[in-house]
Amino acid sequence: MSKIDYHRQTVIVTGASSGLGAEFARQLARRGANLVLVARRADRLESLAAELTRAHDVTVTAIARDLGLPDAGRTLRAELESRGIYATGLVNNAGFGTNDAFTDEDPDRLQSMIALNVSALVDLSRAYIDPLTAADTGVLINTASLLGFQPIPYMGVYAATKAFVLSFTESLWEEAHGTNLRVLAVCPGAMQTEFFDVAGNQSADLGTKRATPEQVVTIALDTLDRRSAPPSVVTNSRSLVLLGKLLSRRAMVRLMGWMARRSHTQPTAPANS
Ligand SMILES: NC(=O)c1ccc[n+]([C@@H]2O[C@H](COP(=O)([O-])OP(=O)(O)OC[C@H]3O[C@@H](n4cnc5c(N)ncnc54)[C@H](OP(=O)(O)O)[C@@H]3O)[C@@H](O)[C@H]2O)c1
Repeated sequence: MSKIDYHRQTVIVTGASSGLGAEFARQLARRGANLVLVARRADRLESLAAELTRAHDVTVTAIARDLGLPDAGRTLRAELESRGIYATGLVNNAGFGTNDAFTDEDPDRLQSMIALNVSALVDLSRAYIDPLTAADTGVLINTASLLGFQPIPYMGVYAATKAFVLSFTESLWEEAHGTNLRVLAVCPGAMQTEFFDVAGNQSADLGTKRATPEQVVTIALDTLDRRSAPPSVVTNSRSLVLLGKLLSRRAMVRLMGWMARRSHTQPTAPANS
């Protein structure tokens, strides 16, 4: 396998209205991909679509959609195909996290998080796995997280959704072996995006250095271009994963709890509910 030619691709990017998703859209457009941008904030999507269409010779379609609703993947595919848009690539990137003691978490917000981070991602993957596999070079990128490698007290549900994404995507990587579909779980450490505003606590980065979305997307797309691409890539703060291999699970979860309590400041009001 060799470098992917995105000129013949139409790639769906979810969560493209900010942060990592917007950057995936920018770098994929630069590589020649036509795009479908999906998120709830239509104005953001429309202005990014206009920017990318102006700057590159690509077609960009903006779809304002709450992916937390049931059957997100099947509904999106039906709508796109009714408009003659047949995707060969999918970046399942939309997601959010919460940061609080489990006893203080809002049950509705937890359900919304699981619906988006897990259910929508699975439904979109299932809706598109056949056309992606049939494409000359299909691409499936799922955004997991560094926090998917170990439990994270005070972000317990979020970390578990990302452990799910990591495990699920690595399984798909193996199932796609011998086909034209390339699968990758991207596992960023903390990044400079709106994530921490939405989580309501800037200290949820546990004091680690934040990468830029540019750095993370460059590593992700370069990794997928490799002759023998791995099932997942940790893009920054890799030492946390190494630590998890050295310590017992008891020691690791204690350490994560200590780091969370140490860096904890008063949570601010969530920007997105
Ligand atoms: N930032 C970090 O430190 C970090 C680290 C590791 C992994 N991640 C993961 O990276 C991914 C991107 O997050 P980010 O850091 O770029 O944060 P972000 O700037 O907050 O972006 C999140 C994106 O998800 C979209 N979204 C949220 N709820 C949605 C819904 N119900 N339906 C459709 N779209 C929805 C948002 O758009 P709308 O609000 O317009 O819908 C936005 O485009 C997430 O999966 C996150 O878990 C982030």
